[in-house]
Amino acid sequence: MSPLSPFDLSNAERRTTKKEPTMMHQKIEQLKTDFDAELESVSNSADLETIKVKYLGKKGAVQDLMKSLKEVSAEDRPAVGKIINDLKEHVALRIEEALPRLIAREDGDRMQQETLDITLPGRRRHAGRKHVINQVLDEIIDILVGMGFSIQLGPDIDSDYYNFEALNFAADHPARDMQDTFYLSPDMLLRTHTSNVQVRAMEAHQPPIRIIAPGKVYRNETITARSHVFFQQVEAIYIDKGVSFADLQITMTEFLSKLFHAEVETRFRPSYFPFVEPGMEVDLRCLSCQGVGCSLCKHTGWLEVAGAGMVHPNVLKHAGIDSEAYTGFAWGMGVERLVLLKHGVKDIRMFTENDLRFLRQFTSI
Ligand code: PHE
Repeated sequence: MSPLSPFDLSNAERRTTKKEPTMMHQKIEQLKTDFDAELESVSNSADLETIKVKYLGKKGAVQDLMKSLKEVSAEDRPAVGKIINDLKEHVALRIEEALPRLIAREDGDRMQQETLDITLPGRRRHAGRKHVINQVLDEIIDILVGMGFSIQLGPDIDSDYYNFEALNFAADHPARDMQDTFYLSPDMLLRTHTSNVQVRAMEAHQPPIRIIAPGKVYRNETITARSHVFFQQVEAIYIDKGVSFADLQITMTEFLSKLFHAEVETRFRPSYFPFVEPGMEVDLRCLSCQGVGCSLCKHTGWLEVAGAGMVHPNVLKHAGIDSEAYTGFAWGMGVERLVLLKHGVKDIRMFTENDLRFLRQFTSI
């Protein structure tokens, strides 16, 4: 007998080398069972997509079955093909059904996680606001402008002339000492008071002059709870025919009453400033103890708020104003002191430490 060639095989013999339809049936059945089980345990849409690729993808299980169809005898092929197609439809249909269910569950989970607790207090947003010094300064300026003063600003860096000489300071006055004043050069300095605007105001305008000059001033001092190297003042100058000490008293007392929203009592103590004659210190009856005596007023019943006086004739002369025809008053008020009084702050250093817990207490007006 010649050796068998494949072409000599009988039909029956040939069939045995082809895949048995029953084997294919089993394989298909198994795949379906596996798929159903996997689908059952899938819990999210991403895993579903993985299963879809595994079964229906180009290199997926159903495609594999399709490929092995060619090994099935031509006679069985249509029937087996149909079963594979049924499987394919089954897989596609079940995946299609499962997807919306999973998405709905995922949305539900997300909703669950993102639930708003409307009983929680809201988060407060902190908006920027004016520094408490500037809040009070604005109030001071508003009141004085309302009383007829206009504003004139002067330079923080100034000459010895405007800060001292034109204000009648003697050459050897202790305020001119380096110990008290920050000098930038032998002739230039950081102004020690807002009185440097006085002569400028008089040079710029003929009487009647009613001007206020708010601004920072600088002194070479040790920083303590009560003094600092820089602070703010508001200068006021009123020059006209017949301006008297009574005008100074009334204007100052009226201003303080408006600032503190109360009937305040003032006291004028004699003092010395070279640019005024007479010169005085203005005290306010302590608002905290009504004059009985407390720690705020150091048990004196009074608080010092300003230096003041009648403009010295020499200063008027320096500015070219006829000192025979005109008189005037001037004051220089410490702003920090007024803020301390208004808000009960105990330490002037708080104003420049930028501690938000302190600053946030003062809501803007
Ligand atoms: N310039 C003075 C000071 O800083 C205050 C003052 C101003 C006094 C105007 C009299 C007149 O202490």
